[in-house]
Amino acid sequence: MKIRILIVDDEETIRLSLKEALKDLGYSISTAATGTIALEKVKEYKPQIVFLDMRLAGENGLDILPKIKEIDRKVEVVIMTAYGDINTAVMAIKLGAFDYINKPFDLLDVEIIIKRITENLKLQNKIYLLEKEKEKEVNKKIIKGNHPLMNEVLNKIDILSKNDNVTVLIRGETGTGKDLVASAIHNRSIRRGSAMLKLNCGAIPQQLIESELFGFEKNAFTGANNRKRGLMEIADGSTVFLDEIAELPMELQPKLLRFLDERKFKRVGGLEDIEVDIRIIAATNKDLEKAIEDKEFREDLYYRLNVVPVYLPRLRERGDDILILANNFLYEYNCKFNKKIKGFTDRAKEALLLYSWKGNVRELKNVIERIVILVESEYIDSGDLPLEIRSALSVGNGFSKSRQDEMDSKLFYAGFSLENEVADMEAYYINLALKYCGNNYTKAAEMLGISRFALKRRIEKYFYADNNNV
Ligand SMILES: Nc1ncnc2c1ncn2[C@@H]1O[C@H](COP(=O)(O)OP(=O)(O)OP(=O)(O)O)[C@@H](O)[C@H]1O
Ligand SMILES: [Mg+2]
Repeated sequence: MKIRILIVDDEETIRLSLKEALKDLGYSISTAATGTIALEKVKEYKPQIVFLDMRLAGENGLDILPKIKEIDRKVEVVIMTAYGDINTAVMAIKLGAFDYINKPFDLLDVEIIIKRITENLKLQNKIYLLEKEKEKEVNKKIIKGNHPLMNEVLNKIDILSKNDNVTVLIRGETGTGKDLVASAIHNRSIRRGSAMLKLNCGAIPQQLIESELFGFEKNAFTGANNRKRGLMEIADGSTVFLDEIAELPMELQPKLLRFLDERKFKRVGGLEDIEVDIRIIAATNKDLEKAIEDKEFREDLYYRLNVVPVYLPRLRERGDDILILANNFLYEYNCKFNKKIKGFTDRAKEALLLYSWKGNVRELKNVIERIVILVESEYIDSGDLPLEIRSALSVGNGFSKSRQDEMDSKLFYAGFSLENEVADMEAYYINLALKYCGNNYTKAAEMLGISRFALKRRIEKYFYADNNNV
């Protein structure tokens, strides 16, 4: 590609001599004698480089420079100043000029500047291509699903990617796609130029979180031999993803709160306020409202984080999305393991739809990966599914045959009471869940799909009806 250069100078001799010299070097050249013509040429001729004289007859190059940049942000402007006019040169650089050159100049200096700019352009082009590649990667990983609850999530991602300053709180059980959603919001926002930085508050020792996040000054504590910048500083201009936010230590919460309010923070051991431009995305699978009740999470921080909440539904609430995702992962793993499995039998689909998917999409993904590796047949049948998923068929929309017979016959006994039957069944499952969860009420309630409060009430009713001492 021939580089296009525009020379803007009111002195004809300079325009012509520079034009001839640069043409001989193989560049395409256009010239302009006034600011107005220059702006028109920037629009029509679309130069990559503009040599702009600072003192045009009756015009100031410093006024024209921003107008050029307004037309085309990418065009590189080199200003030509009188020897020693360093103030103008500095001003021009501040306004976005690439460099300056003193008049009268040597052709060799001009050539060097052009070389530097073209190298820069090549680099930018490379970055552009890499970004395109990255975008393709992002689109490959797009969030699958058609359920209305997922459409709501996708709409929010769309809105949030256009509002790149809004704090986001992503909620959802483990494996529902919180990481995926955080990446999607970042990668579609204008902040995507730099990578999103993530800190998992549950995965690093609590005493390290503050310095990881906010950095520290030299000698802030024993072993702090040098100043270290934290994630919040490194990610300036980008997004910081605070995963498992419920694990953020109580004593650190005011610092994050201050940052969300004032966009400023201090390094550990530092006095100076550091201001950065960052979007915070937080995520949790914990019940934050309960953590507030238990005084483990600050209510004011909760409100500051919860500006726009995104709720990811459990997989079992997403209906046919289960099959869409299963087919998607089947396709993915067929490619990866060079297999040609065509799909699922009706019975297998039924089991997938009935199973509870406590590990959500991650569990489904792992199950499909395992099956694709192991199965040799054309279609995946229910028998190919792990036992716990297959078992959903016998309890999902009814009961096993023998259990059904037993229940049917009860109806014909005198004294049958629906209320007692239901109560027996409730008591049975509560007992089972409590045993399974080692008497942990919170876990058992989650397993039973009821609130902890509802579980306590039922335990009182069924097991402590007489002495009420739970
Ligand atoms: N809607 C979806 N479409 C396609 N893939 C998905 C979807 N949701 C989740 N996944 C995939 O499921 C896996 C788990 O998702 P992710 O890690 O985002 O979950 P998470 O909610 O962050 O889990 P955790 O709470 O354990 O951190 C990932 O491999 C992710 O790519
Ligand atoms: Mg996650």
